[in-house]
Amino acid sequence: MTRVYQPTDYVVEKSRVSSFEKYKEMHKKSLEDPEGFWSEIANEFYWQTPPQPGNFVSYNFDINKGNVFVKWMEGAVTNVCFNLLDRNVRKGHGDKIAYYWEGNHPDDYSRVTYKKLTELVCQFGNALRDSGVGKGDRVAVYMPMILETVVCMLACARIGAVHSVVFAGFSSDSLAERMSDCNAKVLVTADGAWRGEKLLVLKNICDEAQQKAKQKYNHNVNTCIVVSHLNRVTPCGRLPDDIRTLYKWNDEKDIWWHDLVEGQSTICPPEWMAAEDPLFMLYTSGSTGKPKGVLHTTAGYLVYATATFRYVFDYAEKDIYWCTADVGWITGHTYVVYSPLANAATSVIFEGTPFYPDNDRYWALVDKYKVTQFYTAPTAIRALTKCGDEYVKMHDLKSLRVLGSVGEPINPEAWLWYYNLIGGGRCSIADTFWQTETGGHVLTSLPGATPMKPGAAGFPFFGVEPSLLDENGQVIEGPGEGYLVFAQPWPGIMRTLFGDHQRYQQVYFSKFPGYYCTGDGARRDEDGFLWVTGRIDDMLNVSGHLMSTAEVEGVLTEEPRVSEAAVVSKPHPIKGESLYCFVILNDGAVFDADLINSLKKLVRQRIGAFAAPDVIQYAPGLPKTRSGKIMRRILRKVAMGDHDIGDTSTLADPGVVEELFKSRP
Ligand code: WTA
Repeated sequence: MTRVYQPTDYVVEKSRVSSFEKYKEMHKKSLEDPEGFWSEIANEFYWQTPPQPGNFVSYNFDINKGNVFVKWMEGAVTNVCFNLLDRNVRKGHGDKIAYYWEGNHPDDYSRVTYKKLTELVCQFGNALRDSGVGKGDRVAVYMPMILETVVCMLACARIGAVHSVVFAGFSSDSLAERMSDCNAKVLVTADGAWRGEKLLVLKNICDEAQQKAKQKYNHNVNTCIVVSHLNRVTPCGRLPDDIRTLYKWNDEKDIWWHDLVEGQSTICPPEWMAAEDPLFMLYTSGSTGKPKGVLHTTAGYLVYATATFRYVFDYAEKDIYWCTADVGWITGHTYVVYSPLANAATSVIFEGTPFYPDNDRYWALVDKYKVTQFYTAPTAIRALTKCGDEYVKMHDLKSLRVLGSVGEPINPEAWLWYYNLIGGGRCSIADTFWQTETGGHVLTSLPGATPMKPGAAGFPFFGVEPSLLDENGQVIEGPGEGYLVFAQPWPGIMRTLFGDHQRYQQVYFSKFPGYYCTGDGARRDEDGFLWVTGRIDDMLNVSGHLMSTAEVEGVLTEEPRVSEAAVVSKPHPIKGESLYCFVILNDGAVFDADLINSLKKLVRQRIGAFAAPDVIQYAPGLPKTRSGKIMRRILRKVAMGDHDIGDTSTLADPGVVEELFKSRP
């Protein structure tokens, strides 16, 4: 039996929602009266035209009744950036620190106040306008974890441009595909950055991406704006005498960030945006292989991000909050940039890795900045667990009150380590389940309010009502396991896939008409806790990075020696899941170390280093049904070396299974 952890007095004393009863009451109210509930938060913001009573939310989730749509606060007009910055400065937070920036090297750090950040954003907003970027234009962003990245995103929001951030661990192919798909006008990057002792020359990747975008998709960006970052940070490895020899410069297209902002006014009138105007887009992997441009809009996202941050992290005015996620993922968007600023919070933003210069870097920073809320991913926790407890014990972590987890289910062992060692047995853990598509947390525990079970995501956030469905679409009441779906929208849910509303309806709303389908399975236990069991589509989650099997298979079959490939997920002690790949070769091709290396390299090149396969296995054939569908269930067993494969009678050639076991590396 799983032990239930009640919130400790230490957390309850200061918490906003201080009992399970109060949570339930508020949750009930949020569902019965969404307008009443969300208006309270919306009313804190500045509106050029406020939300109109009676017109707060409208939606259709049932494709049989017509187009799927979601609208919140239609008719209202505002600007997200203005609310995050100018509003807070006007409220007296001008001198408050918005971010403590901590560089990869411990000698590099800085800070920025709300007032200064406003000025920087205004200058860059004006610079973007001068570069021909206007309302609705897309701006591709390929940047490290530096303050300019935040400035760039907020400047886009200020002038109504739609930022499309691509995680700077993606390859040039992936960047090319993403910036072409959204037809980005401008690309913003940095010359390079260090991660630990590794130098990443981002400018080169951007140049390659631009070339590929041109060749493959006939797409050109007008300008590439480059932050000069390498020359102001402490090098962590060897550099040439002149760092400009690391990359090429194209006078026609490339422009330094500092040249562009020089002399720009620190006043930049915001573009007033309708509630449902786009705020940003962010690509996430799709099960067909082509990335999906998830689109979020203005008012609903702002209100939802604000509320989740406030309640889930139980943020109070003097707290110091730190989310370790990269800005290239949705967690970085909502919980590094938008929601902390909306709450006038002080955050830490960290460029480096948990292992540089040593394995205690995270804990050193918690101690240095006296962090009160710490939000990270299970994969990081597991990796740090392996480093040994002495790295933790070197530091004083008593400032912590709330610990967050995101990206994948957290295994009870990691949860307990996090709870006992990092949290000292006094902090609440918020295991936050959500998706790029949901915009903010949808299932979580609430510090001070809800009990916790190690590994359970807990309970729905306000305004969220989850259902579990069986294969026939019947609702499962009480304890049980099924598809995790939602019958009604909360303000932060995505509105469409950029340029492809058909696909949006097909992917998320066609399996069970009337419901948004997450693609995850979940179990409700006898106490009402929800446990997310993982993806039920052909998606993998490696270190919290989602990718589709089809995407990787597509890359593997590009190699001329490979005729067919099948990829499955294999459990991994640190990464959660890892890629196990089966390849069938073309006639005459040889399976050898050279092939394995080229395949691994190809996946890194096409997708990114984080997608590199762990195992590539020679396959004499694949287990297929008579209709030609690959039975991945069997491949997963082979990957595990588990001979208990069950019924294989539907296979066209059951003999292939034994051969696959024999050819395991
Ligand atoms: C998984 C990341 C269990 C899930 C915010 C989801 C989780 C996908 C959790 C979305 C969690 C995320 N427990 N599973 N706490 N958080 N997931 O779009 O499979 O990068 O569908 O958003 O990650 O990943 P995405």
